[in-house]
Amino acid sequence: MSITGIKGFNDILPGEVEKWQHIEAAARRVFGLYGFSEIRVPILEKTELFCRSIGDSTDIVEKEMYSFVDKGENKVTMRPEGTASIMRAFIEHKLYAADPVAKLYYMGPMFRYERPQKGRYRQFHQIGAEVTGIADPKVDAQVLTMLCHFFAELDLTEPHLQINSLGCPECRPKYRQVLKDFLKSRIDKLCDDCRRRIDTNPLRALDCKAAGCKEATEGAPSVLDYLCHDCNDHFAKTRCHLESVGTSYSINTRMVRGLDYYTRTTFELVTGLLGSQSAVAAGGRYDGLISDLGGPSLPGIGFAMGVERVALLLAEKDFRKRPDFFIAALGETAQAEAFRLMSGLQQKGRSVEMDFAGKSLKSQMRRADKFNAHFTLILGEDELVKGSAALKNMDSGTQTDVRLDVDVLCKAVAS
Ligand code: HAM
Repeated sequence: MSITGIKGFNDILPGEVEKWQHIEAAARRVFGLYGFSEIRVPILEKTELFCRSIGDSTDIVEKEMYSFVDKGENKVTMRPEGTASIMRAFIEHKLYAADPVAKLYYMGPMFRYERPQKGRYRQFHQIGAEVTGIADPKVDAQVLTMLCHFFAELDLTEPHLQINSLGCPECRPKYRQVLKDFLKSRIDKLCDDCRRRIDTNPLRALDCKAAGCKEATEGAPSVLDYLCHDCNDHFAKTRCHLESVGTSYSINTRMVRGLDYYTRTTFELVTGLLGSQSAVAAGGRYDGLISDLGGPSLPGIGFAMGVERVALLLAEKDFRKRPDFFIAALGETAQAEAFRLMSGLQQKGRSVEMDFAGKSLKSQMRRADKFNAHFTLILGEDELVKGSAALKNMDSGTQTDVRLDVDVLCKAVAS
């Protein structure tokens, strides 16, 4: 019996991979405009890094991490997200010493032991960006605008930006207490998880999908009513800056995020097109994380998008590259000439396909259709004798007679 892949771990096959390259190229292009540089960090980190940053009472750390003890008795984890690793690297290499402001982006696989379904996998891919060292709300607006710019670059209008503020260590405890009291008054309606977490992580109940929790949290107090003066001011200014550059958003006071490091601005780009996996991208400010991980006291903000979810939104589009030429050749001599021309054209930067199996002209033309080449050149004995052949533009259907010369063929395609 043949061996299959692991559940929740997907192959990204040719045909689909071109969509991924398109998404990655758009991210590099757009993030470059905003001055971001790429950073690459390892997949495996010490387990402690994620417990300390994401938080012990989160679903990710409690239930979803791929953790194991390696042969050297070290507790290690396959990263469930990128922010903790990027900040670990930022601190470890003292990137802040040269400049506390770092604008970094990353792409790669992440691992969470979740129940797989459409848009939710155990190995999934994120493209993310992080900014350190700027507390000013203009950077909140800039990061959000860059994220929306990325989706516009892909011609996707669907994901809609929702924002919230989770306050800071000064004002959040007050809100947590008020929410805890509210939830305790309706505890019999809550699911087991939310009941258990009522003291450690009461905010998660606002985000819980269980019907009882949804009902119990209707009319729950809003976090925005409990922000301290500075957090309130930060949120108001973030909104103002978003509006000044035309980045549209709505406020969702029930958005709590599943990671503990967030402070102040949090956000999600949501869509109705992916069923229950509605968040295509998400992130927020984490002004305490860098110091919590042993670094200097510097603020941070960032986001990550799920590449599989972005790819699902682009489902209808075909990003496969069309070859410039398909050369059909009949007979051994013509095949040899086709091979010589193909190689010459490729050296000049043109993409070319031909059939190597010596099939009939009909079958070769079927192959040309499959490749969807821009131009087809048909070579037979007569063409070899004449030194020229009909070059067919496959979009317009027009044919021109061209000399069998690499430079002439290149020019014919360029015009
Ligand atoms: P997150 O909300 O856990 O945030 O994940 C960000 C995005 O990754 C989600 O919105 C979703 O598109 C995608 N994603 C998450 N889990 C899965 C999964 N199992 N399958 C497919 N896609 C998934 C973070 O990871 C934070 N590090 C974001 C951030 C960066 N915050 C600040 N900087």
